Amino acid sequence: MAFNTLLVEDQGAIRRITLNRPDKLNALNRETLTELHAAFADAASEASVRVVVLTGAGGKAFVAGADIAEMNGLSPAQARDFSAHGQALMTRIERLGKPVIARVNGFALGGGLELAMACHLRIAADNAKLGQPEVNLGLVPGFGGTQRLLRLAGRGVALELCLLGAPITAARAAELGVVTKVVPADELDAEVDAIATQLANSAPLALRGILDAITLGGEAPLDTGLDHETQVFAVTFSTQDMKEGTDAFLARRKPSFSGC
Ligand code: COA
Repeated sequence: MAFNTLLVEDQGAIRRITLNRPDKLNALNRETLTELHAAFADAASEASVRVVVLTGAGGKAFVAGADIAEMNGLSPAQARDFSAHGQALMTRIERLGKPVIARVNGFALGGGLELAMACHLRIAADNAKLGQPEVNLGLVPGFGGTQRLLRLAGRGVALELCLLGAPITAARAAELGVVTKVVPADELDAEVDAIATQLANSAPLALRGILDAITLGGEAPLDTGLDHETQVFAVTFSTQDMKEGTDAFLARRKPSFSGC
């Protein structure tokens, strides 16, 4: 499928989706949200795709937020639809069933941080800046930021970032658990490629089980979450990949996972 605001390319089992509005620092307008929905639906349905890398075009930004020029003209009813559209996208990414890596190559502000937080791993360049600056526009985060930041890094961090609206460095974001790892900007591609390659070679059904157990089970009471984990654990014993992984360990060879 061809997109106006995205670039989509495959490298083996790794799908790379690049937000491509660098002149607007990849700000999320309605068209971009709609295209991201379609791009992630494709990534979910295509068995050849085992991992997705999401990033922003240009050297400056991952995503500098929701499109302020577009939001400036929205009525409350349209704003409600915009928020719902954005939230549904974040949920789609979080529940993709395949790992999604945010390659945070610069500003990840507002909707940009919300998008990164919907991904499962966030690898940031050391010159990236992250934050929820909506309050400075008289707004609140509308694509899940208040809820995902709270769950990812705790109430204190969510309150600090949303109330004060000041961006933080990638290093501080890593200390707070908001990003997975920070690397020098010139090592970002090598680091993201290494992690994506590891995930692409991993057992897809086990990855899916882990994502389901943590993202869905993690929202339930502990007993329900533990029960969910047990079900997922048992299901992996029906897969060829579980047999392959354990056989390979016992034979002291590298496993080759088929996704079956
Ligand atoms: N929505 C729409 N356009 C945006 C944008 C956004 N969130 N963020 C940046 N842009 C546009 C700018 O308007 C500018 O467009 P123009 O050249 O047509 O005037 C272009 O992207 C470059 O941005 P600019 O502000 O000139 O770059 P900068 O290096 O001086 O500053 C930022 C970078 C990220 C600090 C600044 O762009 C910014 O504060 N952006 C908004 C961040 C924000 O509040 N996000 C949350 C939105 S809810």
